[in-house]
Amino acid sequence: MRSDSKNEWKYEESHTALKPRRLRATFEMRELVAETRVDVAQLVMPIFVREGRNVKEKIDEMPGIFRYSPDGELDKEIQEISDLGINAVLLFGLPTKKDLLGSEAYNPSGVVQQAIRRIKDTKPEIVVISDVCMCGYTEHGHCGILGQGGTVENEKTISYLGKIALSQASAGADIVAPSAMMDDQVLAIRRALDSGGFDRTAIMSYSSKFASGFYGPFRVAAGSAPSFGDRKSYQMDPRNAREAIRETQIDVEQGADMIMVKPALAYLDVLSAVRQRFPLPLAAYNVSGEYSMIKAASINGWIDEARVVDEVLHSIRRAGADIIISYFSKDYSRRRNSSKG
Ligand code: PBG
Repeated sequence: MRSDSKNEWKYEESHTALKPRRLRATFEMRELVAETRVDVAQLVMPIFVREGRNVKEKIDEMPGIFRYSPDGELDKEIQEISDLGINAVLLFGLPTKKDLLGSEAYNPSGVVQQAIRRIKDTKPEIVVISDVCMCGYTEHGHCGILGQGGTVENEKTISYLGKIALSQASAGADIVAPSAMMDDQVLAIRRALDSGGFDRTAIMSYSSKFASGFYGPFRVAAGSAPSFGDRKSYQMDPRNAREAIRETQIDVEQGADMIMVKPALAYLDVLSAVRQRFPLPLAAYNVSGEYSMIKAASINGWIDEARVVDEVLHSIRRAGADIIISYFSKDYSRRRNSSKG
């Protein structure tokens, strides 16, 4: 260390005065110097909707999460979410009928379209985001339309994704969120929305979505597991971070209004890199496997769930997310509201 200049830092003389613990001494002091906060207003609660009447159905793999029918059961859930101060929900639908074209996904009276209308009728201020994909609607469980040899055909699929997005926007969705990882899906959706008169509907692109084992519980919850093969020819390779920048760049150029990194926890480096390069609102998806692992450990008494969830959500925020999509959104908000007393 140099010590020839007057203004130069001299560790030898000053080190006894440097005591970071001063700022950790009390709860209030720690609150004062906290660098990041998770704001309930930026949490999104995912919701599964299924056909039926008066249904609130447990999902065994995701304790505390349910499937709702788009009626009074959904109304109650939305009321609860809104009472907790959460502003936005992300909808996934389970149709009763699946086919090769995933036609229930763009049926004007499909289950998601019903749910969107219902929420917009009862609580219009809630920001409704709807997932645009085909995996829950196709017989084979892939995210698009199959061509020769069972590969997902990009061009055909994006024209259907445009149709799906348009039908959700017509039902009242504020934001459509394409998750199929097809090339040019944002462009196709933007064009379909604009030509249908929905130039005000925003696109939250799942811009870097990795082929992840952490989606396991979701695929049971949504009934969307592929019946053969995997999603590695369209979702990203978990080993790639630079490619995430490229994927995001393309979506931004095609008109995405918001971008996303998914999953969150094994990809915090990607989240941080995307944050540094793009000024758009950035979402992170704290996915089903991340939820279920914590719930399982908590149910077994192995961890303190509240502490771990706090830590996880703040890590996602610290890495650079503005918006956090999490199945813990309600739990976290409930705790925050009660600690304010
Ligand atoms: C649809 C989709 C998936 C998730 C969100 N949208 C599953 C998948 O790609 O297989 C996963 C969300 C989660 O795990 O919570 N393509």
